[in-house]
Amino acid sequence: LFRSSDVIHGHKTVFPIPLGLSCSWDMALIEKSARVAAVEAAADGLNWTFSPMVDISRDPRWGRIAEGSGEDPFLGSAIAQAMVKGYQQSDLSKDNTLAACVKHYGLYGASEGGRDYNTVDMSRVRMYNEYLPPYKAAVEAGVASIMSSFNVVDGVPATGNHWLLTDLLKRQWGFKGLVVSDYTSLSEMINHGMGDLQTVSALSMNAGLDMDMVSEGFLNTLKASVNASKVSVKRIEDACRKILELKYRLGLFDDPYRYCSEERAAKLLLSPEHRQAARSAAAQSFVLLKNDQNVLPLTRKGTIAVVGPLAHSRRNMLGTWSVSGDHEKAVTVLEGIKAVAGPNVNIRYTKGANLSDDTVFAKKVNVFGTEIDFDEHSPDEMIREAVALAAQSDVVAAVVGEAADMTGEASSMASIDLQESQQKLLKALSKTGKPVVMVLYNGRPMTLQWEAQHIPAIVDVWFGGTEGGNAVADVLFGDVNPSGKLTTSFPVHIGQVPVYHSMLNTGRPYHGEAFSKFKTNYLDIPNEPLFPFGYGLSYTTFSYGEVRLSSATLKNGQTLTASVKVSNTGSRPGSEVVQLYIQDEVGSLSRPLKELKGFQKIMLQPGESKEVSFTITSDLLKFYNGDLKWVVEPGKFNV
Ligand code: BGC
Repeated sequence: LFRSSDVIHGHKTVFPIPLGLSCSWDMALIEKSARVAAVEAAADGLNWTFSPMVDISRDPRWGRIAEGSGEDPFLGSAIAQAMVKGYQQSDLSKDNTLAACVKHYGLYGASEGGRDYNTVDMSRVRMYNEYLPPYKAAVEAGVASIMSSFNVVDGVPATGNHWLLTDLLKRQWGFKGLVVSDYTSLSEMINHGMGDLQTVSALSMNAGLDMDMVSEGFLNTLKASVNASKVSVKRIEDACRKILELKYRLGLFDDPYRYCSEERAAKLLLSPEHRQAARSAAAQSFVLLKNDQNVLPLTRKGTIAVVGPLAHSRRNMLGTWSVSGDHEKAVTVLEGIKAVAGPNVNIRYTKGANLSDDTVFAKKVNVFGTEIDFDEHSPDEMIREAVALAAQSDVVAAVVGEAADMTGEASSMASIDLQESQQKLLKALSKTGKPVVMVLYNGRPMTLQWEAQHIPAIVDVWFGGTEGGNAVADVLFGDVNPSGKLTTSFPVHIGQVPVYHSMLNTGRPYHGEAFSKFKTNYLDIPNEPLFPFGYGLSYTTFSYGEVRLSSATLKNGQTLTASVKVSNTGSRPGSEVVQLYIQDEVGSLSRPLKELKGFQKIMLQPGESKEVSFTITSDLLKFYNGDLKWVVEPGKFNV
């Protein structure tokens, strides 16, 4: 038997949510997170994980943005491959590997209005250039299986979409593995208006779906469809073959119990080594959004007020989709700070606010347990206590943000502001005049305009997993210098969505001047996001020299080198993600203002410089043209 589960960001040792991990821009670290997950899950009886989730999303309203790697297809593809490698390695029959399942094919992250399961509709050009690359990259990395998504693609639900599953995936991309439906996505086609269970089962089988997850349409109706000559036995045999082949590759015919070992599980699950890997991964995933007057890192003396509904909320530390994770094993921020601060710091804690004061909202979020709870003190009393504590302290760490299941599946939000209860707390703390460090837990980009204006230091810590609290403390006290960079843009206002870095130009460009009538701008907000893709500060500073090219021209099939000198101009060692963007100035299609085409993460000592080089091939300049041909067009490119 396959034993499958959603091992999404770790098994028992929970790593940061995927959106957080992506902000590390560190492929070795991401691969390692999948490796640790596989080693643990494969000892614990599992052999198939429904991961990686590689849906590109540019809509923070969509709760599942937390499960992916953000807005960019180039980075998303690299991460997809690192994850597949981490789970599968080179031999699936090893007892410490899992079969991976790339999902949700396809385009699920573009659901209209950010509402989960909703309609998707986009041009083929956009699909090919921007949304499909990560699935294709996973296929190229040898992913064992792929999951069809809930949404429609060109009007036909993905699970019954012949073009998607057979023409593109199996024929064009040459995928030889197993195609499984998402949970009941087959029978959901009845609601999509595609016919009754027998009809949609036949449609899916003929479209190229090999396995029906949960709907029992294949199980209960295919015989009738064969008898009615609606489905061929040959296609059913082909689907069975895919399933048997994967079981064979996993070694299940040699030993069906290969992936169950109490002895290995006892040794490996939550081992100190795994916890250490999770702690370091978490610290690498954090993004320092603001740090005025170097409020951070904190000094190891005086009194720190640790405040906020997430400061000591074990229930919320793991984030969405931690199916096998045990939140009781998670370290809270308060515990992390106490463990890391050392003997000369006086640490005081109070909750300060509920995650939300809205009981109706809380009920919807709390389906898997009480993530949003209500303190016995009134909201006003809680704030008063927090303000009093702040007044007696040197600095305030305000740990605020979202409950774990405010993102993830079926967790769409129309407002991505901090909940009102927490805004009130921050405003009150800010009035005390004490420096406030905002530690933000979130599974999506949020609108932080007030916070960015009034709070001197903001560090985005996503959901860091089992060791999240320790990792937060490592970064707050400067034992780890933050180096994460955003992989999804933070809008100024929800009305700006979608806002992303690889936009096309308009015929009426706007160049950051004051409002200009008949230019592409808003009357009430700027065009630029509050925090853009690729952004993130450090406790040190970096300077960049001029970009130099080994040659000003590049012929088809040749390569050239772009290099830049990067220096650490501050006083601490630090890592920097050097990002290569290219613009194709003139094309047969309007081309993005810039596209990510490379990245390297480097570590520099204070005063140290490094020459960072990128190889630019003509292949790197290719895109899908209007005929969906993968071409490079001659012309001028900006690096
Ligand atoms: C989700 C998938 C998941 C599946 C199985 C579905 O609801 O969309 O991501 O793999 O459930 O748990």
